Amino acid sequence: MTPNNIFSLLVLVAFTDSLKILVYSPAFAGSHTNFMARIADTLTESGHNVTFFVPIFDDNRSNQLGVKLTKNVIKMERSEEMKLDPVTMDNVTSSFWNINVNSKEGHSLFDPVHKLTVQSCRSLFSNAELLATLRSHEYDVGISEPMMTCSLALFRHLGIQKTILASSCPNFDVVMAAMGEPAETSYVPGKILTCYNHQIHGITITTYSFTIYSSVSGDRMDFADRLENYDMYHFMVKRYGQVFDDEAKVYRSFLGQDFPDWRELIPDASVHFTNSISYLDFPRPSIQKTIDIGGITVDVEQIESQKLSNEFNAILDKQEKTMFISFGSMAKSFEMPQNYKENLLEVFKSEPNVTFIWKYESNNVSFAEGLDNLELVKWAPQTTLLNDKRMSAFLSHGGLGSTIETVFFGKPTIMIPIFFDQFRNSHMLSRLGTSVTLLKTDLGNLDKLKSAFHKILHNDSFRKNAGHVADVVRNQPIKPKELVVKYTEFVGNHGPFHHMTPYSLKMPWFQRHGYDVLLYKSTFYLLPSFLFLASFRKFVFSRNEIPASR
Ligand SMILES: *[C@@H]1O[C@H](CO)[C@@H](O)[C@H](O)[C@H]1NC(C)=O
Ligand SMILES: *[C@@H]1O[C@H](CO)[C@@H](O)[C@H](O)[C@H]1NC(C)=O
Ligand SMILES: *[C@@H]1O[C@H](CO)[C@@H](O)[C@H](O)[C@H]1NC(C)=O
Ligand SMILES: *[C@@H]1O[C@H](CO)[C@@H](O)[C@H](O)[C@H]1NC(C)=O
Ligand SMILES: *[C@@H]1O[C@H](CO)[C@@H](O)[C@H](O)[C@H]1NC(C)=O
Ligand SMILES: *[C@@H]1O[C@H](CO)[C@@H](O)[C@H](O)[C@H]1NC(C)=O
Repeated sequence: MTPNNIFSLLVLVAFTDSLKILVYSPAFAGSHTNFMARIADTLTESGHNVTFFVPIFDDNRSNQLGVKLTKNVIKMERSEEMKLDPVTMDNVTSSFWNINVNSKEGHSLFDPVHKLTVQSCRSLFSNAELLATLRSHEYDVGISEPMMTCSLALFRHLGIQKTILASSCPNFDVVMAAMGEPAETSYVPGKILTCYNHQIHGITITTYSFTIYSSVSGDRMDFADRLENYDMYHFMVKRYGQVFDDEAKVYRSFLGQDFPDWRELIPDASVHFTNSISYLDFPRPSIQKTIDIGGITVDVEQIESQKLSNEFNAILDKQEKTMFISFGSMAKSFEMPQNYKENLLEVFKSEPNVTFIWKYESNNVSFAEGLDNLELVKWAPQTTLLNDKRMSAFLSHGGLGSTIETVFFGKPTIMIPIFFDQFRNSHMLSRLGTSVTLLKTDLGNLDKLKSAFHKILHNDSFRKNAGHVADVVRNQPIKPKELVVKYTEFVGNHGPFHHMTPYSLKMPWFQRHGYDVLLYKSTFYLLPSFLFLASFRKFVFSRNEIPASR
Protein backbone atom coordinates (compact mmCIF):
# COMPACT_ATOMS: atom_id res chain seq x y z
CA MET A 1 0.00 0.00 0.00
CA THR A 2 1.30 3.47 -0.81
CA PRO A 3 1.52 6.08 1.91
CA ASN A 4 -1.30 7.93 0.15
CA ASN A 5 -3.60 4.93 0.37
CA ILE A 6 -2.77 4.47 4.01
CA PHE A 7 -3.61 8.10 4.60
CA SER A 8 -7.01 7.84 2.88
CA LEU A 9 -7.72 4.67 4.82
CA LEU A 10 -6.91 6.44 8.09
CA VAL A 11 -9.18 9.35 7.15
CA LEU A 12 -11.96 6.93 6.22
CA VAL A 13 -11.59 5.05 9.49
CA ALA A 14 -11.51 8.31 11.41
CA PHE A 15 -14.74 9.48 9.79
CA THR A 16 -16.77 6.29 9.89
CA ASP A 17 -15.80 5.63 13.50
CA SER A 18 -16.24 9.17 14.70
CA LEU A 19 -18.71 9.35 17.58
CA LYS A 20 -20.86 12.27 18.60
CA ILE A 21 -20.23 12.74 22.29
CA LEU A 22 -21.97 15.02 24.78
CA VAL A 23 -19.86 15.88 27.85
CA TYR A 24 -21.86 17.53 30.66
CA SER A 25 -19.68 19.67 32.91
CA PRO A 26 -21.18 22.31 35.21
CA ALA A 27 -18.89 25.25 36.08
CA PHE A 28 -18.64 25.40 39.87
CA ALA A 29 -15.16 24.23 40.86
CA GLY A 30 -11.88 24.15 38.95
CA SER A 31 -10.85 20.58 39.73
CA HIS A 32 -14.13 19.11 38.48
CA THR A 33 -14.10 21.26 35.34
CA ASN A 34 -10.50 20.42 34.60
CA PHE A 35 -11.07 16.67 34.85
CA MET A 36 -14.07 16.75 32.49
CA ALA A 37 -12.24 19.06 30.09
CA ARG A 38 -9.28 16.67 29.85
CA ILE A 39 -11.66 13.82 28.96
CA ALA A 40 -13.38 15.99 26.33
CA ASP A 41 -10.08 17.12 24.79
CA THR A 42 -8.69 13.58 24.77
CA LEU A 43 -11.70 12.39 22.78
CA THR A 44 -11.56 15.39 20.44
CA GLU A 45 -7.87 14.74 19.84
CA SER A 46 -8.66 11.20 18.75
CA GLY A 47 -11.10 12.40 16.08
CA HIS A 48 -14.48 12.36 17.81
CA ASN A 49 -17.04 15.13 17.61
CA VAL A 50 -17.34 16.29 21.22
CA THR A 51 -19.77 18.87 22.60
CA PHE A 52 -18.86 20.37 25.98
CA PHE A 53 -22.12 21.35 27.65
CA VAL A 54 -21.64 23.73 30.57
CA PRO A 55 -24.41 24.80 32.93
CA ILE A 56 -22.92 27.87 34.62
CA PHE A 57 -23.24 27.66 38.41
CA ASP A 58 -20.74 30.40 39.20
CA ASP A 59 -20.31 33.40 36.89
CA ASN A 60 -16.69 33.85 37.93
CA ARG A 61 -15.89 30.43 36.53
CA SER A 62 -17.73 30.79 33.23
CA ASN A 63 -14.54 31.68 31.38
CA GLN A 64 -12.42 28.94 32.93
CA LEU A 65 -13.79 25.91 31.14
CA GLY A 66 -10.46 24.17 30.67
CA VAL A 67 -11.16 22.86 27.14
CA LYS A 68 -8.51 23.71 24.56
CA LEU A 69 -9.13 21.42 21.59
CA THR A 70 -12.88 20.97 21.97
CA LYS A 71 -14.53 23.80 20.09
CA ASN A 72 -18.25 22.96 20.40
CA VAL A 73 -19.04 24.54 23.74
CA ILE A 74 -22.65 25.15 24.74
CA LYS A 75 -23.08 27.25 27.86
CA MET A 76 -26.30 27.45 29.81
CA GLU A 77 -26.17 30.80 31.62
CA ARG A 78 -27.46 31.12 35.18
CA SER A 79 -31.23 31.39 35.48
CA GLU A 80 -33.07 34.33 37.07
CA GLU A 81 -33.62 32.13 40.14
CA MET A 82 -29.86 31.58 40.50
CA LYS A 83 -29.11 35.29 40.10
CA LEU A 84 -31.68 36.30 42.69
CA ASP A 85 -29.81 34.85 45.66
CA PRO A 86 -26.37 34.00 44.30
CA VAL A 87 -24.39 31.38 46.16
CA THR A 88 -21.10 29.76 45.10
CA MET A 89 -18.39 27.64 46.68
CA ASP A 90 -16.73 30.95 47.59
CA ASN A 91 -19.51 31.57 50.12
CA VAL A 92 -18.04 28.84 52.32
CA THR A 93 -14.30 29.15 51.59
CA SER A 94 -13.45 31.38 54.55
CA SER A 95 -14.93 28.80 56.92
CA PHE A 96 -12.59 26.12 55.51
CA TRP A 97 -9.81 27.03 57.95
CA ASN A 98 -11.95 26.47 61.01
CA ILE A 99 -14.62 23.96 60.09
CA ASN A 100 -14.30 20.23 60.75
CA VAL A 101 -15.78 17.77 58.33
CA ASN A 102 -16.72 14.49 59.95
CA SER A 103 -19.79 12.33 60.25
CA LYS A 104 -21.28 14.77 62.77
CA GLU A 105 -20.05 18.22 61.70
CA GLY A 106 -19.30 20.31 58.66
CA HIS A 107 -22.35 19.30 56.68
CA SER A 108 -23.02 22.90 55.65
CA LEU A 109 -20.11 22.70 53.19
CA PHE A 110 -22.36 20.66 50.92
CA ASP A 111 -25.19 23.21 50.88
CA PRO A 112 -24.06 25.57 48.08
CA VAL A 113 -23.65 22.83 45.49
CA HIS A 114 -26.91 21.20 46.58
CA LYS A 115 -28.83 24.41 46.00
CA LEU A 116 -27.14 25.21 42.68
CA THR A 117 -27.62 21.68 41.38
CA VAL A 118 -31.37 21.78 41.91
CA GLN A 119 -31.74 25.30 40.49
CA SER A 120 -29.69 24.42 37.44
CA CYS A 121 -31.77 21.29 36.82
CA ARG A 122 -34.92 23.39 36.84
CA SER A 123 -33.33 25.84 34.45
CA LEU A 124 -32.31 23.04 32.05
CA PHE A 125 -35.69 21.37 31.78
CA SER A 126 -37.48 24.76 31.52
CA ASN A 127 -35.49 25.54 28.40
CA ALA A 128 -37.39 23.81 25.58
CA GLU A 129 -35.30 25.46 22.87
CA LEU A 130 -32.03 24.24 24.35
CA LEU A 131 -33.42 20.72 24.77
CA ALA A 132 -34.57 20.69 21.13
CA THR A 133 -31.12 21.82 19.94
CA LEU A 134 -29.36 19.13 21.98
CA ARG A 135 -31.80 16.50 20.74
CA SER A 136 -31.24 17.48 17.11
CA HIS A 137 -27.52 16.63 17.44
CA GLU A 138 -28.30 12.93 17.97
CA TYR A 139 -25.41 12.17 20.31
CA ASP A 140 -24.12 8.61 20.49
CA VAL A 141 -22.56 8.82 23.94
CA GLY A 142 -23.18 10.98 27.03
CA ILE A 143 -20.48 11.52 29.68
CA SER A 144 -21.07 13.24 33.01
CA GLU A 145 -19.75 13.43 36.54
CA PRO A 146 -22.22 11.84 38.97
CA MET A 147 -21.90 14.72 41.47
CA MET A 148 -25.36 15.44 40.14
CA THR A 149 -27.79 13.32 38.16
CA CYS A 150 -29.80 15.84 36.17
CA SER A 151 -27.29 15.11 33.41
CA LEU A 152 -28.32 11.46 33.39
CA ALA A 153 -31.99 12.43 33.20
CA LEU A 154 -31.09 14.68 30.28
CA PHE A 155 -29.28 11.86 28.46
CA ARG A 156 -32.26 9.55 28.96
CA HIS A 157 -34.66 12.28 27.80
CA LEU A 158 -32.57 12.89 24.65
CA GLY A 159 -32.54 9.18 23.90
CA ILE A 160 -28.80 8.73 24.58
CA GLN A 161 -28.57 5.12 25.72
CA LYS A 162 -24.81 4.82 25.94
CA THR A 163 -23.76 6.69 29.04
CA ILE A 164 -20.46 6.95 30.89
CA LEU A 165 -19.84 8.28 34.39
CA ALA A 166 -16.63 10.12 35.17
CA SER A 167 -15.80 10.90 38.83
CA SER A 168 -13.06 13.41 39.50
CA CYS A 169 -12.24 11.58 42.74
CA PRO A 170 -10.91 8.05 43.40
CA ASN A 171 -14.03 6.64 45.04
CA PHE A 172 -17.33 8.49 45.18
CA ASP A 173 -19.29 6.78 47.96
CA VAL A 174 -22.83 7.33 46.71
CA VAL A 175 -21.95 6.21 43.21
CA MET A 176 -20.22 3.10 44.48
CA ALA A 177 -23.36 2.24 46.42
CA ALA A 178 -25.64 2.97 43.47
CA MET A 179 -23.43 1.00 41.04
CA GLY A 180 -23.35 -2.03 43.34
CA GLU A 181 -19.68 -1.63 44.25
CA PRO A 182 -18.66 -2.92 47.70
CA ALA A 183 -17.73 -0.25 50.24
CA GLU A 184 -15.51 -2.34 52.59
CA THR A 185 -15.32 0.47 55.12
CA SER A 186 -13.20 -1.63 57.47
CA TYR A 187 -10.10 -1.18 55.32
CA VAL A 188 -10.98 1.17 52.45
CA PRO A 189 -10.94 4.83 53.49
CA GLY A 190 -14.10 6.57 52.24
CA LYS A 191 -13.99 9.61 49.97
CA ILE A 192 -13.86 11.92 52.96
CA LEU A 193 -11.76 11.06 55.97
CA THR A 194 -12.07 12.51 59.40
CA CYS A 195 -8.64 13.69 60.31
CA TYR A 196 -9.11 15.36 63.62
CA ASN A 197 -8.47 13.74 66.91
CA HIS A 198 -12.02 14.57 67.63
CA GLN A 199 -14.59 13.21 69.94
CA ILE A 200 -16.84 11.45 67.48
CA HIS A 201 -19.04 9.20 69.51
CA GLY A 202 -20.05 9.66 73.11
CA ILE A 203 -22.02 6.89 74.71
CA THR A 204 -23.45 7.02 78.20
CA ILE A 205 -24.90 3.89 79.77
CA THR A 206 -26.24 4.69 83.26
CA THR A 207 -23.16 5.91 85.16
CA TYR A 208 -20.59 4.66 82.64
CA SER A 209 -19.62 6.92 79.81
CA PHE A 210 -17.43 6.04 76.85
CA THR A 211 -15.88 8.50 74.52
CA ILE A 212 -14.50 7.38 71.21
CA TYR A 213 -11.85 9.48 69.50
CA SER A 214 -11.17 9.01 65.86
CA SER A 215 -8.73 10.22 63.26
CA VAL A 216 -8.81 8.00 60.22
CA SER A 217 -5.44 8.13 58.52
CA GLY A 218 -5.44 5.34 55.99
CA ASP A 219 -6.26 1.69 55.55
CA ARG A 220 -5.00 0.58 58.99
CA MET A 221 -7.82 1.60 61.25
CA ASP A 222 -8.55 0.90 64.89
CA PHE A 223 -12.10 0.36 66.09
CA ALA A 224 -12.92 4.05 66.49
CA ASP A 225 -11.60 4.80 63.01
CA ARG A 226 -13.60 2.01 61.46
CA LEU A 227 -16.71 3.25 63.21
CA GLU A 228 -16.13 6.77 61.94
CA ASN A 229 -15.23 5.60 58.42
CA TYR A 230 -18.45 3.58 58.37
CA ASP A 231 -20.51 6.54 59.58
CA MET A 232 -18.83 8.93 57.16
CA TYR A 233 -19.47 6.60 54.22
CA HIS A 234 -23.15 6.33 55.13
CA PHE A 235 -23.36 10.05 55.75
CA MET A 236 -22.04 10.70 52.23
CA VAL A 237 -24.42 8.22 50.63
CA LYS A 238 -27.32 9.84 52.45
CA ARG A 239 -26.24 13.45 51.81
CA TYR A 240 -25.82 12.99 48.06
CA GLY A 241 -28.97 10.88 47.99
CA GLN A 242 -30.80 14.01 49.22
CA VAL A 243 -29.32 16.09 46.40
CA PHE A 244 -30.26 13.45 43.80
CA ASP A 245 -33.78 13.09 45.22
CA ASP A 246 -34.32 16.85 45.04
CA GLU A 247 -33.12 16.84 41.43
CA ALA A 248 -35.50 13.96 40.65
CA LYS A 249 -38.42 16.01 42.01
CA VAL A 250 -37.49 18.74 39.55
CA TYR A 251 -37.03 16.67 36.39
CA ARG A 252 -40.02 14.48 37.20
CA SER A 253 -42.15 17.61 37.36
CA PHE A 254 -41.24 18.11 33.68
CA LEU A 255 -40.89 14.54 32.44
CA GLY A 256 -43.56 12.73 34.44
CA GLN A 257 -43.64 11.09 37.87
CA ASP A 258 -42.65 7.68 36.51
CA PHE A 259 -39.47 8.97 34.83
CA PRO A 260 -36.60 6.90 36.29
CA ASP A 261 -34.55 8.43 39.09
CA TRP A 262 -30.86 8.11 39.98
CA ARG A 263 -31.27 4.65 41.47
CA GLU A 264 -31.92 3.43 37.93
CA LEU A 265 -29.94 5.99 35.92
CA ILE A 266 -26.58 5.59 37.72
CA PRO A 267 -26.26 1.78 37.34
CA ASP A 268 -27.50 2.18 33.76
CA ALA A 269 -24.10 3.65 32.83
CA SER A 270 -21.83 1.27 30.92
CA VAL A 271 -18.49 2.49 32.28
CA HIS A 272 -17.38 4.52 35.30
CA PHE A 273 -14.12 6.41 34.91
CA THR A 274 -12.53 7.31 38.24
CA ASN A 275 -9.70 9.71 38.98
CA SER A 276 -7.63 7.04 40.67
CA ILE A 277 -4.19 5.66 39.92
CA SER A 278 -4.29 1.99 40.90
CA TYR A 279 -0.62 1.97 41.94
CA LEU A 280 -1.14 4.92 44.27
CA ASP A 281 -4.56 4.39 45.74
CA PHE A 282 -5.58 2.30 48.74
CA PRO A 283 -6.23 -1.20 47.38
CA ARG A 284 -9.95 -1.93 47.10
CA PRO A 285 -12.34 -4.26 45.29
CA SER A 286 -14.32 -2.74 42.43
CA ILE A 287 -16.69 -3.88 39.71
CA GLN A 288 -15.61 -4.36 36.10
CA LYS A 289 -17.30 -1.15 34.93
CA THR A 290 -14.90 0.91 37.03
CA ILE A 291 -11.89 2.05 35.03
CA ASP A 292 -9.12 4.01 36.78
CA ILE A 293 -7.98 6.90 34.59
CA GLY A 294 -6.07 8.89 37.22
CA GLY A 295 -3.23 10.83 35.62
CA ILE A 296 -5.40 12.03 32.73
CA THR A 297 -5.12 15.57 34.14
CA VAL A 298 -1.32 15.64 33.88
CA ASP A 299 0.03 16.20 30.38
CA VAL A 300 3.69 15.47 31.10
CA GLU A 301 4.98 16.34 27.61
CA GLN A 302 3.13 19.64 27.51
CA ILE A 303 4.36 20.58 31.00
CA GLU A 304 7.95 19.65 30.16
CA SER A 305 7.82 21.94 27.15
CA GLN A 306 6.92 24.95 29.31
CA LYS A 307 9.62 27.49 30.23
CA LEU A 308 9.65 29.40 33.50
CA SER A 309 9.41 33.19 33.35
CA ASN A 310 12.56 35.19 34.15
CA GLU A 311 11.02 36.21 37.44
CA PHE A 312 10.59 32.64 38.68
CA ASN A 313 13.92 31.58 37.19
CA ALA A 314 15.65 34.23 39.26
CA ILE A 315 13.83 33.11 42.42
CA LEU A 316 14.86 29.48 41.90
CA ASP A 317 18.48 30.51 41.30
CA LYS A 318 18.75 32.28 44.63
CA GLN A 319 19.60 29.28 46.79
CA GLU A 320 20.33 25.61 46.45
CA LYS A 321 16.92 24.61 47.80
CA THR A 322 13.49 26.04 47.07
CA MET A 323 10.12 25.02 48.44
CA PHE A 324 6.73 25.90 46.99
CA ILE A 325 3.71 26.45 49.26
CA SER A 326 0.14 26.51 48.00
CA PHE A 327 -3.20 25.78 49.63
CA GLY A 328 -4.96 25.57 46.26
CA SER A 329 -7.62 27.80 44.78
CA MET A 330 -10.45 27.16 47.24
CA ALA A 331 -8.92 27.83 50.66
CA LYS A 332 -7.29 31.26 50.65
CA SER A 333 -3.93 31.64 52.41
CA PHE A 334 -4.74 35.19 53.46
CA GLU A 335 -7.85 33.95 55.26
CA MET A 336 -5.89 31.57 57.52
CA PRO A 337 -5.77 32.40 61.24
CA GLN A 338 -3.06 34.94 62.15
CA ASN A 339 -1.12 32.59 64.45
CA TYR A 340 -0.82 30.02 61.62
CA LYS A 341 0.81 32.66 59.42
CA GLU A 342 3.15 33.72 62.22
CA ASN A 343 4.24 30.12 62.79
CA LEU A 344 4.97 29.67 59.10
CA LEU A 345 7.13 32.81 59.19
CA GLU A 346 9.06 31.36 62.16
CA VAL A 347 9.65 28.17 60.19
CA PHE A 348 10.95 30.14 57.19
CA LYS A 349 13.36 31.98 59.52
CA SER A 350 14.62 28.64 60.84
CA GLU A 351 15.56 27.54 57.29
CA PRO A 352 17.57 30.52 56.00
CA ASN A 353 19.23 28.47 53.26
CA VAL A 354 15.94 27.62 51.58
CA THR A 355 13.85 29.98 49.44
CA PHE A 356 10.12 29.70 50.04
CA ILE A 357 7.57 30.63 47.38
CA TRP A 358 4.12 31.04 48.94
CA LYS A 359 0.95 31.45 46.89
CA TYR A 360 -0.74 34.26 48.78
CA GLU A 361 -3.80 35.99 47.33
CA SER A 362 -3.78 39.38 49.06
CA ASN A 363 -1.93 42.68 48.46
CA ASN A 364 -1.57 43.25 52.18
CA VAL A 365 1.72 41.48 52.83
CA SER A 366 2.97 43.74 55.60
CA PHE A 367 3.04 40.76 57.97
CA ALA A 368 5.92 39.21 56.03
CA GLU A 369 8.21 42.23 55.67
CA GLY A 370 11.92 41.76 56.18
CA LEU A 371 12.13 38.05 55.35
CA ASP A 372 14.75 37.60 52.63
CA ASN A 373 14.01 33.97 51.85
CA LEU A 374 10.25 34.37 51.30
CA GLU A 375 8.55 35.26 48.00
CA LEU A 376 4.82 35.89 48.15
CA VAL A 377 3.13 35.44 44.77
CA LYS A 378 -0.54 35.75 43.85
CA TRP A 379 -0.23 33.17 41.13
CA ALA A 380 2.42 30.57 40.28
CA PRO A 381 2.92 28.19 37.33
CA GLN A 382 2.56 25.19 39.65
CA THR A 383 3.26 22.34 37.24
CA THR A 384 6.24 24.10 35.65
CA LEU A 385 7.66 24.74 39.12
CA LEU A 386 7.12 21.14 40.19
CA ASN A 387 8.85 19.93 37.06
CA ASP A 388 11.93 22.07 37.81
CA LYS A 389 14.99 20.23 39.15
CA ARG A 390 15.77 23.16 41.45
CA MET A 391 12.46 22.72 43.31
CA SER A 392 13.16 20.65 46.43
CA ALA A 393 9.76 20.21 48.08
CA PHE A 394 6.11 21.21 47.99
CA LEU A 395 3.64 22.07 50.73
CA SER A 396 0.17 21.32 49.43
CA HIS A 397 -3.42 21.20 50.69
CA GLY A 398 -3.70 17.77 49.08
CA GLY A 399 -6.30 18.54 46.42
CA LEU A 400 -6.35 15.58 44.06
CA GLY A 401 -5.08 17.65 41.12
CA SER A 402 -2.01 18.83 43.04
CA THR A 403 -1.51 15.43 44.63
CA ILE A 404 -1.31 13.70 41.25
CA GLU A 405 0.89 16.44 39.76
CA THR A 406 3.41 16.21 42.56
CA VAL A 407 3.49 12.44 42.16
CA PHE A 408 4.30 12.68 38.43
CA PHE A 409 7.14 15.11 39.10
CA GLY A 410 8.52 13.18 42.07
CA LYS A 411 8.55 15.92 44.68
CA PRO A 412 8.48 15.17 48.42
CA THR A 413 5.59 16.95 50.11
CA ILE A 414 4.14 18.21 53.32
CA MET A 415 0.38 17.81 53.05
CA ILE A 416 -1.93 19.93 55.14
CA PRO A 417 -5.42 18.86 54.07
CA ILE A 418 -8.20 21.38 54.65
CA PHE A 419 -11.44 19.63 53.72
CA PHE A 420 -13.29 17.01 51.64
CA ASP A 421 -11.16 14.32 49.98
CA GLN A 422 -7.85 16.05 50.79
CA PHE A 423 -7.28 13.94 53.92
CA ARG A 424 -7.57 10.80 51.89
CA ASN A 425 -5.23 12.04 49.17
CA SER A 426 -2.62 13.09 51.74
CA HIS A 427 -2.56 9.76 53.50
CA MET A 428 -2.36 8.00 50.15
CA LEU A 429 1.06 9.65 49.70
CA SER A 430 2.21 9.32 53.32
CA ARG A 431 1.61 5.59 53.01
CA LEU A 432 4.20 5.51 50.22
CA GLY A 433 6.77 7.47 52.23
CA THR A 434 6.82 10.50 49.92
CA SER A 435 5.00 12.85 52.24
CA VAL A 436 4.41 14.06 55.78
CA THR A 437 0.74 14.68 56.57
CA LEU A 438 -0.16 17.32 59.14
CA LEU A 439 -3.55 18.42 60.43
CA LYS A 440 -4.47 22.04 59.72
CA THR A 441 -4.50 22.61 63.50
CA ASP A 442 -0.80 21.64 63.46
CA LEU A 443 -0.20 25.02 61.79
CA GLY A 444 -0.74 26.29 65.34
CA ASN A 445 2.00 24.00 66.69
CA LEU A 446 5.38 25.55 65.89
CA ASP A 447 7.53 22.61 67.00
CA LYS A 448 5.62 20.08 64.95
CA LEU A 449 5.64 22.39 61.94
CA LYS A 450 9.40 23.05 62.17
CA SER A 451 10.15 19.37 62.48
CA ALA A 452 8.02 18.49 59.42
CA PHE A 453 9.78 21.11 57.29
CA HIS A 454 13.17 19.97 58.52
CA LYS A 455 12.39 16.36 57.65
CA ILE A 456 11.06 17.06 54.17
CA LEU A 457 13.94 19.42 53.30
CA HIS A 458 16.84 17.48 54.76
CA ASN A 459 15.94 13.78 54.97
CA ASP A 460 16.64 12.23 51.60
CA SER A 461 14.36 9.22 52.02
CA PHE A 462 11.27 11.23 51.01
CA ARG A 463 12.91 12.44 47.81
CA LYS A 464 14.06 8.93 46.92
CA ASN A 465 10.61 7.44 47.51
CA ALA A 466 8.98 10.22 45.51
CA GLY A 467 11.36 9.51 42.63
CA HIS A 468 10.44 5.84 42.68
CA VAL A 469 6.69 6.54 42.76
CA ALA A 470 7.09 8.96 39.84
CA ASP A 471 8.79 6.20 37.86
CA VAL A 472 5.93 3.83 38.55
CA VAL A 473 3.07 6.19 37.61
CA ARG A 474 4.85 7.36 34.47
CA ASN A 475 5.21 3.76 33.32
CA GLN A 476 1.67 2.47 33.82
CA PRO A 477 1.12 -0.23 31.19
CA ILE A 478 -1.87 1.52 29.63
CA LYS A 479 -1.92 5.30 29.55
CA PRO A 480 -5.04 7.00 30.95
CA LYS A 481 -5.70 8.79 27.63
CA GLU A 482 -5.69 5.46 25.82
CA LEU A 483 -8.14 4.01 28.35
CA VAL A 484 -10.53 6.94 27.90
CA VAL A 485 -10.50 6.68 24.12
CA LYS A 486 -10.75 2.88 23.90
CA TYR A 487 -13.48 2.48 26.51
CA THR A 488 -15.53 5.34 25.11
CA GLU A 489 -15.28 3.88 21.62
CA PHE A 490 -16.13 0.44 22.96
CA VAL A 491 -19.27 1.77 24.64
CA GLY A 492 -20.11 3.95 21.62
CA ASN A 493 -19.78 1.14 19.10
CA HIS A 494 -20.95 -1.87 21.10
CA GLY A 495 -22.79 -0.59 24.20
CA PRO A 496 -24.83 -0.25 26.29
CA PHE A 497 -23.78 -2.99 28.71
CA HIS A 498 -26.74 -3.35 31.03
CA HIS A 499 -25.87 -6.92 31.91
CA MET A 500 -22.68 -5.67 33.60
CA THR A 501 -24.68 -4.28 36.50
CA PRO A 502 -24.22 -6.47 39.57
CA TYR A 503 -27.36 -8.35 40.55
CA SER A 504 -26.66 -7.33 44.17
CA LEU A 505 -28.64 -4.12 43.52
CA LYS A 506 -31.83 -6.14 43.27
CA MET A 507 -31.24 -8.23 46.40
CA PRO A 508 -32.45 -7.53 49.93
CA TRP A 509 -29.55 -6.62 52.26
CA PHE A 510 -29.58 -9.88 54.23
CA GLN A 511 -29.23 -11.93 51.05
CA ARG A 512 -26.65 -9.61 49.53
CA HIS A 513 -24.31 -9.85 52.52
CA GLY A 514 -24.97 -13.56 52.90
CA TYR A 515 -26.57 -13.19 56.34
CA ASP A 516 -29.29 -15.73 55.50
CA VAL A 517 -26.64 -18.31 54.56
CA LEU A 518 -24.63 -17.55 57.71
CA LEU A 519 -27.72 -17.95 59.81
CA TYR A 520 -28.50 -21.30 58.18
CA LYS A 521 -24.88 -22.47 58.54
CA SER A 522 -24.64 -21.40 62.12
CA THR A 523 -27.67 -23.47 63.03
CA PHE A 524 -25.55 -26.56 62.24
CA TYR A 525 -23.12 -25.46 64.94
CA LEU A 526 -25.74 -24.09 67.26
CA LEU A 527 -28.09 -27.06 67.04
CA PRO A 528 -25.58 -29.73 68.24
CA SER A 529 -24.36 -27.34 70.96
CA PHE A 530 -27.91 -26.80 71.98
CA LEU A 531 -28.64 -30.53 72.01
CA PHE A 532 -25.39 -31.18 73.90
CA LEU A 533 -26.27 -28.59 76.52
CA ALA A 534 -29.76 -29.93 76.76
CA SER A 535 -28.55 -33.50 77.34
CA PHE A 536 -25.80 -32.31 79.73
CA ARG A 537 -28.45 -30.55 81.75
CA LYS A 538 -30.48 -33.71 81.77
CA PHE A 539 -27.37 -35.71 82.83
CA VAL A 540 -26.58 -33.34 85.70
CA PHE A 541 -30.18 -33.21 86.59
CA SER A 542 -30.50 -36.99 86.64
CA ARG A 543 -27.18 -37.45 88.61
CA ASN A 544 -28.51 -35.14 91.21
CA GLU A 545 -31.61 -37.12 91.18
CA ILE A 546 -29.94 -40.55 91.69
CA PRO A 547 -28.77 -40.04 95.27
CA ALA A 548 -32.11 -38.64 96.10
CA SER A 549 -33.80 -41.79 94.85
CA ARG A 550 -31.50 -44.06 96.83
C1 LIG B 1 -16.66 37.37 41.13
O1 LIG B 1 -16.86 38.37 40.16
C2 LIG B 1 -17.32 39.60 40.68
C3 LIG B 1 -17.52 40.53 39.50
O2 LIG B 1 -18.03 39.88 38.41
C4 LIG B 1 -16.32 40.17 41.66
O3 LIG B 1 -16.84 41.35 42.22
C5 LIG B 1 -16.06 39.14 42.77
O4 LIG B 1 -15.06 39.60 43.63
C6 LIG B 1 -15.65 37.83 42.17
N1 LIG B 1 -15.51 36.86 43.25
C7 LIG B 1 -14.44 36.10 43.38
C8 LIG B 1 -14.46 35.19 44.52
O5 LIG B 1 -13.51 36.13 42.60
C1 LIG C 1 -22.78 34.47 48.75
O1 LIG C 1 -21.82 35.46 48.43
C2 LIG C 1 -22.32 36.51 47.60
C3 LIG C 1 -21.16 37.41 47.19
O2 LIG C 1 -20.31 37.64 48.27
C4 LIG C 1 -23.43 37.28 48.34
O3 LIG C 1 -23.94 38.27 47.50
C5 LIG C 1 -24.53 36.29 48.70
O4 LIG C 1 -25.54 36.93 49.47
C6 LIG C 1 -23.97 35.10 49.49
N1 LIG C 1 -25.04 34.14 49.65
C7 LIG C 1 -25.26 33.48 50.78
C8 LIG C 1 -26.42 32.54 50.80
O5 LIG C 1 -24.55 33.61 51.76
C1 LIG D 1 -20.06 17.98 15.14
O1 LIG D 1 -21.32 18.02 15.78
C2 LIG D 1 -21.95 19.27 15.69
C3 LIG D 1 -23.19 19.22 16.54
O2 LIG D 1 -23.96 18.10 16.23
C4 LIG D 1 -22.24 19.58 14.22
O3 LIG D 1 -22.84 20.85 14.12
C5 LIG D 1 -20.92 19.56 13.44
O4 LIG D 1 -21.17 19.72 12.07
C6 LIG D 1 -20.18 18.27 13.66
N1 LIG D 1 -18.86 18.38 13.11
C7 LIG D 1 -18.35 17.45 12.31
C8 LIG D 1 -16.96 17.69 11.82
O5 LIG D 1 -18.96 16.44 12.02
C1 LIG E 1 23.38 27.94 55.72
O1 LIG E 1 24.51 27.87 54.87
C2 LIG E 1 25.69 28.44 55.44
C3 LIG E 1 26.78 28.47 54.39
O2 LIG E 1 26.81 27.27 53.67
C4 LIG E 1 26.10 27.62 56.66
O3 LIG E 1 27.26 28.14 57.25
C5 LIG E 1 24.95 27.63 57.65
O4 LIG E 1 25.24 26.78 58.76
C6 LIG E 1 23.66 27.18 57.01
N1 LIG E 1 22.58 27.41 57.95
C7 LIG E 1 21.70 26.44 58.29
C8 LIG E 1 20.65 26.81 59.29
O5 LIG E 1 21.71 25.33 57.79
C1 LIG F 1 -2.87 44.28 56.74
O1 LIG F 1 -2.70 43.14 57.59
C2 LIG F 1 -2.41 43.46 58.93
C3 LIG F 1 -2.21 42.16 59.68
O2 LIG F 1 -1.27 41.39 59.07
C4 LIG F 1 -3.55 44.25 59.53
O3 LIG F 1 -3.24 44.62 60.85
C5 LIG F 1 -3.81 45.49 58.71
O4 LIG F 1 -4.93 46.17 59.18
C6 LIG F 1 -4.03 45.11 57.25
N1 LIG F 1 -4.12 46.32 56.44
C7 LIG F 1 -5.12 46.54 55.61
C8 LIG F 1 -5.04 47.80 54.81
O5 LIG F 1 -6.05 45.75 55.46
C1 LIG G 1 14.43 9.80 57.40
O1 LIG G 1 13.04 9.51 57.44
C2 LIG G 1 12.76 8.12 57.51
C3 LIG G 1 11.26 7.96 57.39
O2 LIG G 1 10.58 8.79 58.29
C4 LIG G 1 13.35 7.55 58.80
O3 LIG G 1 13.09 6.16 58.85
C5 LIG G 1 14.83 7.82 58.84
O4 LIG G 1 15.36 7.39 60.07
C6 LIG G 1 15.13 9.29 58.65
N1 LIG G 1 16.55 9.51 58.51
C7 LIG G 1 17.22 10.38 59.24
C8 LIG G 1 18.66 10.50 58.97
O5 LIG G 1 16.65 11.08 60.09
